Amino acid sequence: MIFRTFLRCLTLALILTMSFNRANAQDPKKGEAIFKDNCASCHVKDMKTKMTGPALGGVEERWSKFPKKELYDWIRNSSGVLADASYKSNPYAKSLYAEYKNTNMTAFPNLTDEDLVNLLLYINNMYKDGCAAPPCKTPDVATAKGAKTETKEAGDNGSMILWALAFVLVLASILLARYINSLNRLAQQRAGESPVEEKSFLQIALNPTVVRILIFALVIVGGYTTVNNAIGLGRQQNYAPEQPIKFSHEVHAGKNGIDCQYCHDGARRSKHAVIPATNTCMNCHTAIKKGPEYGTAEILKIYAASGFNPLSGTYFKESVPTDERLAEYKKWLKEANADNKAITESEISVQLSFAKPMIGKPVNWVKIHNLPDHAYFNHAQHVTVGKVACQDCHGKVEEMKLVKQHAPLSMGWCINCHRQTKVKFDENSYYSSETKSHKMYEQYHNEVKSGKRTNGVTVEEIGGLECQKCHY
Ligand code: HEC
Ligand code: HEC
Ligand code: HEC
Ligand code: HEC
Ligand code: HEC
Ligand code: HEC
Repeated sequence: MIFRTFLRCLTLALILTMSFNRANAQDPKKGEAIFKDNCASCHVKDMKTKMTGPALGGVEERWSKFPKKELYDWIRNSSGVLADASYKSNPYAKSLYAEYKNTNMTAFPNLTDEDLVNLLLYINNMYKDGCAAPPCKTPDVATAKGAKTETKEAGDNGSMILWALAFVLVLASILLARYINSLNRLAQQRAGESPVEEKSFLQIALNPTVVRILIFALVIVGGYTTVNNAIGLGRQQNYAPEQPIKFSHEVHAGKNGIDCQYCHDGARRSKHAVIPATNTCMNCHTAIKKGPEYGTAEILKIYAASGFNPLSGTYFKESVPTDERLAEYKKWLKEANADNKAITESEISVQLSFAKPMIGKPVNWVKIHNLPDHAYFNHAQHVTVGKVACQDCHGKVEEMKLVKQHAPLSMGWCINCHRQTKVKFDENSYYSSETKSHKMYEQYHNEVKSGKRTNGVTVEEIGGLECQKCHY
C-alpha cells in the first residue's frame, strides 16, 4: 500500500521532471537585477518616492493611453522619444521632461523586450506588494503565503536528510554484503569445501544489488528535489500578463453587469470555462464602436480579427485582401474620430499598425491559469454541482481591468477548501436525481435531514481528498 502510493509519487515526480521546461518566461527577479544595475541611481526602489527621477509605481497605467511601444522606446532612449516628431501625440512625455527640470534619463538601448517586461513586472510588484516576487514574507500577509515559504524551507532540510539517509543506506548495504560474504565463507569452511576467495571492497561495492539500491536512492532524492523545485515553477499567483486587446472585466462584468457565464459558458457544463470567441464580442460590438477609454483603437482589433467592416456593417468576404481591408478601416477611423482633434493622422496610422497583424486571425489571448497536466480540475463540478462562486477561486474579477491570478492553484489550496467546505445537498438537484444518486450521498443526506448530522458533510467526507480524484 505504502509502496503503491510511493510509486505514484515517483511517477508524478518523473512527469514533473519532463514538464520542467513549462517554466514561465516572466521573472521579476531578473527585472530586479536590471533595476539595481541601471535604474536605482535615479529611481527609488519602493516605487513610491521621487528622487532624481519620478516614482515609477503605476507607470504602466500612466502610459496606457499610448501604444505600449512608446513606454518601451522611452526607457530605451527617452531623448529619442522627445526629439522624434512622430511622438507628437504624446504630450505626457514632454510635460514629464519639463517637470524634472529638463534632466535627461540615461539611454539603455541594449534592453530587450523581455528585459522590459521583467522590469515592469518588478516595478509593479514592488509598488503593489513591497517585494520583487510576491507572496512577500511580511507578517501581515502571512496566512497562506507564510505556509508556502515554510514548506519550501522544510523541503530544503528534507532533501538534506534524504541525502544523508541515502548515504547511510548505501553504506549499510555494502557492510551487509561484506558480512554475508564472510558468513558464506565460514559455512563453506565448516562443510569442508574449499572456501571462495574473499571479495574486495570494490567487488562488493559493484555488486548488482548494491548498484540497484544506489540507483533507487538516487531516484528518490533526485525526484524529491525536482518536485520541490517544480512546485515553485508551476505556480504563478498574481500573474497578470498584458493581453493583445485591452479587454477590461471591470467595464464588462463590473460597470455593465454582464454575467460571467454569458462569455464563459463552458463553466456550467464542462471541464473548461472557455475564453469566448470574437463572435461573442461581436454580439455587442457591431453596435458599440467606441470605448470610453481607448476610443476606436481596441475595438478596431476585434473588427480586424473577426473580419467585420464597420462602414458597411457587414463582414468582409474571405477573399478581400489585407490592403483593401486596411483602406476601409482607415476611412472608418477618420469618420469615427472626426469630432476629436487630438486624434491626428499619425495616431490613426498607429491604430492601424496595431490592428494589421490581427486581421483574419483568432485573438491570441495569453492564458493565465495553468494547472500541471497531471492534475484534474473540472469547472462544472464546482460551479454547477458544488455551487462555488467564480469569485471564491478567481477573486473579484469584475473589478479587474487586467485579470490577475488570485489563487496559488497549489494542491494545498484545493485540499484546504475541500476540508472546510460543506457539500450543498439540499440546493442541489444533482444529489436527488435518480440517475446520479449514490448510496453514500443518500445516507449523508438522510443523516442531515433527520438531524443526526448537525455539522453537515464536507467535501473531504465524500472523497475530495482521494489522490485519484485529482490525479490522472
Ligand atoms: C540619470 C538618472 C536616471 C536613470 C539612471 C534612470 N532614469 Fe528613468 N527617469 C529619470 C528622469 C529625470 C525622468 C523624468 C523624465 C525626464 O526628465 O527625462 C525619468 C523618467 C522615467 C520614466 C517615466 C516615468 C513616469 O512616471 O511616466 C520611466 C518609466 C523610467 N524613467 C524608467 C527608468 C528605468 C526602467 C531605468 C533603468 C533601466 C531608468 N529609468 C533609469 C532619470 C533616470
Ligand atoms: C464580455 C465577455 C466576458 C465576461 C462577461 C467575463 N469575461 Fe472573463 N474573460 C473574457 C476574455 C475575453 C478573457 C481573456 C482575456 C483576459 O484574460 O482578460 C477572459 C479571461 C478570464 C479569466 C482568466 C482566464 C485565464 O487565462 O486563465 C478568468 C479567471 C475570467 N475571465 C473570469 C471571469 C469572471 C469570474 C467573470 C464574471 C465576474 C468574467 N470572467 C466575465 C471575457 C469575459
Ligand atoms: C473551485 C475553484 C474554481 C471556481 C469556482 C471557478 N474556477 Fe475558473 N479556474 C479554476 C482553476 C483551478 C482553473 C485552471 C484550470 C486549468 O488550468 O486546467 C480555472 C480556469 C479558468 C479559466 C481559464 C480557461 C479554462 O477553463 O481553463 C476561466 C476563463 C475561468 N476559470 C473562469 C471561471 C468562471 C467564469 C467561473 C464561474 C462561473 C469559474 N471560473 C469558477 C478554478 C475555479
Ligand atoms: C454583452 C455586450 C458585450 C459583449 C459581449 C462584449 N462587450 Fe465589449 N463593451 C461592451 C460595453 C457596454 C462597453 C462599454 C461601452 C461604453 O462604455 O461606451 C464595451 C467596451 C469594450 C471595449 C472598449 C474599452 C475602452 O475603454 O475603450 C473593448 C476593447 C471591448 N469592449 C472589448 C470586448 C471584447 C474583446 C469582447 C469579446 C471577448 C467584448 N468586448 C464583448 C459590451 C460588450
Ligand atoms: C473554494 C473551494 C474549492 C476549491 C478551492 C477547490 N474545490 Fe474541488 N470541490 C469543492 C466543492 C464544494 C466540491 C463538491 C462538489 C460536489 O458537491 O460534488 C468539490 C469537488 C471536487 C471534486 C470531486 C470530488 C468527489 O469526491 O466527487 C474534485 C475532483 C475536485 N473538487 C478537484 C479540485 C481541484 C483539483 C482543485 C484545485 C485545483 C479544487 N477542487 C479546488 C470546492 C473547492
Ligand atoms: C483536491 C485535489 C487533489 C487531491 C485530492 C490530491 N492532489 Fe496532488 N495535486 C493537486 C494539484 C492541483 C497539484 C498541482 C499543484 C501545483 O502545481 O503546485 C498537485 C500536485 C501533486 C504532486 C506534485 C507536487 C506538488 O505539490 O506540486 C504530487 C506528488 C501529488 N500531488 C501527490 C498527491 C497524492 C499522493 C495525493 C493523495 C494523498 C494527492 N496528490 C491528492 C491536487 C490534488
